[in-house]
Amino acid sequence: AYTAEPFLPGGRAGLPGLREAAAGCRGCPLHRDATQTVFGAGAAHARVLLLGEQPGDQEDRQGRPFVGPAGKVLTRALDEAGIDPDDTYVTNAVKHFKFEIVPERGKRRIHKAPNVRETAACKPWLDAELRVVDPEIIVVLGATAGKALLGSSFRVTKQRGMLLPLEGRGESVVATIHPSAVLRADNREAAYQGLVSDLRMVARALG
Ligand code: URA
Ligand code: SF4
Repeated sequence: AYTAEPFLPGGRAGLPGLREAAAGCRGCPLHRDATQTVFGAGAAHARVLLLGEQPGDQEDRQGRPFVGPAGKVLTRALDEAGIDPDDTYVTNAVKHFKFEIVPERGKRRIHKAPNVRETAACKPWLDAELRVVDPEIIVVLGATAGKALLGSSFRVTKQRGMLLPLEGRGESVVATIHPSAVLRADNREAAYQGLVSDLRMVARALG
């Protein structure tokens, strides 16, 4: 099976050590076509860890999570919900950009959802980030992040906007839609307001 496990540093590495080791990860085939590993970023002991799916085109080029269009939506929604960005750590279930090039659509790299083998392979990095950051609340953005953290029975439509316990750990989980889903929605404003309202529930839980 694919796994990042052999690439993890030993001992109790902090975020810089993890980031450096992840840069050399070859735990699954996704490292081959992507530009670089996009490790999580943000406050080392953030109260809120936001979990996306995988880096997109911009993130792959710049090496940082949520710097593209979805990131703009997320930043605005966090602000509107009253969550301090300095209190957040942002990362993805999968650390390399998965894409395909569809010749009819030009040279653009089209995002492709990671499969369970890839999310499972990459999970040791997320577990290490959770151990170091030790957030109070994990916000899962969309179905891929939810399934990576909570298992394949996770359904964002059923479980969004409520505090869910995370088995075996102290943190709570709040699920919401992925900010990219806001950009794709027929009714963008309604989708965006849904995201903000789920994040407000996170802000309330933080107190
Ligand atoms: N979408 C994600 O899930 N993560 C990113 O970092 C950017 C877009
Ligand atoms: Fe390693 Fe994750 Fe990249 Fe796969 S996607 S090579 S497991 S960092």
